[in-house]
Amino acid sequence: MDHQFFRGRRLRRTSQLRDLVAETSVGIEDLIQPIFVQDGKGQQIPIPSMEGIFRWSVDLLSQEMDALAEAKVGSVIVFGMPDSSKKDGKASGAYASQGSAQEAIRFIKKNYPHISVISDVCLCAYTDTGHCGVMGEDDIDNDASLEVLSQVALSHAQAGADVVAPSDMMDGRVWAIRQTLDEKGFSHIPILSYSAKYASSFYGPFRDATDCAPQKGDRQGYQMDPRNQREALREIGADLQEGADMVMIKPALAYLDIIHETKLTYDVPVFAYNVSGEFAMIKAAAEKGWIKEEPAVREMLTSIKRAGADRILTYFAKNFQKYFS
Ligand code: PBG
Repeated sequence: MDHQFFRGRRLRRTSQLRDLVAETSVGIEDLIQPIFVQDGKGQQIPIPSMEGIFRWSVDLLSQEMDALAEAKVGSVIVFGMPDSSKKDGKASGAYASQGSAQEAIRFIKKNYPHISVISDVCLCAYTDTGHCGVMGEDDIDNDASLEVLSQVALSHAQAGADVVAPSDMMDGRVWAIRQTLDEKGFSHIPILSYSAKYASSFYGPFRDATDCAPQKGDRQGYQMDPRNQREALREIGADLQEGADMVMIKPALAYLDIIHETKLTYDVPVFAYNVSGEFAMIKAAAEKGWIKEEPAVREMLTSIKRAGADRILTYFAKNFQKYFS
């Protein structure tokens, strides 16, 4: 019989055949685990909206780091949080050499030298307004924020961060940080820019975790408008010109088209942030028995890879082996 139709099922018949022709794979080496550190001692504070994720004081951080090392996680991104009494108009806690982020970076690099440390560079956990830049008269003062952000990046590099990652979305931050790092002897430290960071509702649990929701207003004056794709490419192009070595798209799931276009357009490493709301949605639905967590996580991370992400920041990194083995 002369078949005129396509027998796509031939290559789906057994799991061996499916593996043979699989186009995308996700490995633990693709994943970066975010960790939250805070001032104080003896603290392991659960985050109610993020099951299994804690805020750690640095003296207890070895518990989490041992678990991550055991789980073969090769990279972390560190988010610091000050005591609420230390928040101020100038975000001065953000570049304190003894701040929780700086201490955590030093601790990890000393005790887990094989794990690479990316540091999140932002002001929102350190300003009394909860905004990612410092305030001027009645709005964020973009250019004054650049100086502070540069100091933050420098303090992280001095503490030993392998990569600095500005997430504030101020204009010119990559340029300002690059200049400062170069002047101070850190021309070898790469910048991973959160280039296309959207004003998203999927950051809700993270803002619980880091107590960084804006007191007034929102972040739409600096984070990107979810309606725009071409603007993302413009932001990414600008960051690369300013000296970014790697770029990030954030969130991931609702922005797979942006990840894809970025991968097609630029020849730099593309990172995607599988954010807190994406984590919480899966956890919550799984808890209700509405979806199965492990295959859902696998499918989600695969989709982000397939869209074009080279690496994924995800709260699921820690349990990845459990999901994929
Ligand atoms: C703050 C920052 C945010 C996230 C990473 N850095 C929140 C925000 O911009 O409001 C979100 C991470 C997540 O939701 O997992 N600069």
